[in-house]
Amino acid sequence: MNIRKIALIAGAAGALFALAASAQAPAGGAGGPPPYDPSKFQKPVWAYAVAVPVPPPATPPPVDPKVYTLPGAAQGFTRAQIRGGADGPADWYPKEHPVMPSIVQKGDPTRRVIACSLCHYPNGKGRAENAPISGLSTEYFIDTMNDFKSGARKSSEPQKGNVATMANIAKQMTDEEIKASADYFAAIAWTPWIKVVESPTAPKVKSAAGLYLPLEGAEAGKEPIGQRIVEVPVNSEATDVLRDPHSSFIAYVPPGSIAKGKALVGKYACAACHAADLNGIAFAPAITSRSPSYMARQLNDYRQGARKGKAAQLMGPVTSKMTDDEIIAITAYLASIPAKAKQPG
Ligand code: HEC
Ligand code: HEC
Repeated sequence: MNIRKIALIAGAAGALFALAASAQAPAGGAGGPPPYDPSKFQKPVWAYAVAVPVPPPATPPPVDPKVYTLPGAAQGFTRAQIRGGADGPADWYPKEHPVMPSIVQKGDPTRRVIACSLCHYPNGKGRAENAPISGLSTEYFIDTMNDFKSGARKSSEPQKGNVATMANIAKQMTDEEIKASADYFAAIAWTPWIKVVESPTAPKVKSAAGLYLPLEGAEAGKEPIGQRIVEVPVNSEATDVLRDPHSSFIAYVPPGSIAKGKALVGKYACAACHAADLNGIAFAPAITSRSPSYMARQLNDYRQGARKGKAAQLMGPVTSKMTDDEIIAITAYLASIPAKAKQPG
């Protein structure tokens, strides 16, 4: 199905989209994000994981000289190198992906372009607080980068600062750099990354800059899950400190979500645009086995009209009447669909 046909299908609901678009909130304006105010959080609150801002320490912590290692990695890195040495952020497994374009590997500090590999990892797996970006079609990738660039794609949660950072990165990039990044990440097949577990309880968590981590020590424990998805790293240190691109995520979802989500995906005819197996076509991206928190933010961002590029307008009518509980069930189901390929290694 081509974009024009789909635009026709979606055309009738266009007016609804225009209504949703008017509810848009600005993301990270010139004065930075607004003050932390839980009463103003976008719903569903769990999906955005806005963190209590932590003021920088009066005296910087001492430099950690330890060289960290990972199984099977040829090279070790210090904490500082993990976040960005001379060759960019740590690339633990360089043989597992094609050669990175310079903008992906190192970014360009002179233009405040942060290396893509820092947040999304060299393999494009990404983390719950940002986005999975490998295995997307180049067409969709370029399209959405241009939406970030033009301001047509924002977060509906102005306190989620990393989306504004992402948009600023896109604004600084040339068309050639966007194309090179799209080609690079499109060449990496999407493989399993999220384990979905239906459970009446979930670990107690804190948000570390938008990434939920299970509480540790005396604070650790479980609590009723309620109407939430709680997505956490399988291994907090591997993800949060080492940025290990092999260490994946686990998403706790309310019991019954997967079956409910499967029925809703049928009801909303998601496959009409995202392909029968939901692994995407040129401009409608793959939506299987990816972070449910990321996908929930996107569904709400479309619902709020914060993503309003040309192709994004097809998602406005789909989401305009979706409830928060439906978003939980739909994203739990989508995340639980096995990826097409097997994890390497
Ligand atoms: C500071 C962290 C950070 C860096 C560095 C970063 N991104 Fe992102 N990226 C994000 C976040 C956050 C999102 C959006 C998440 C959301 O909307 O919830 C995102 C989303 C994206 C998406 C959209 C994915 C989708 O499925 O729609 C693409 C494409 C992307 N980034 C490409 C890049 C490229 C290319 C680079 C390097 C030039 C880069 N990013 C660097 C944080 C980052
Ligand atoms: C009328 C066609 C159409 C239908 C029906 C549709 N989608 Fe989409 N969807 C799209 C297009 C096109 C995009 C890319 C929009 C853009 O560029 O922002 C998209 C984007 C998305 C995204 C964002 C992905 C990302 O990587 O950021 C999610 C999640 C999504 N759709 C989920 C769904 C779900 C779930 C359903 C069913 C409930 C659905 N879509 C039904 C056309 C559709």
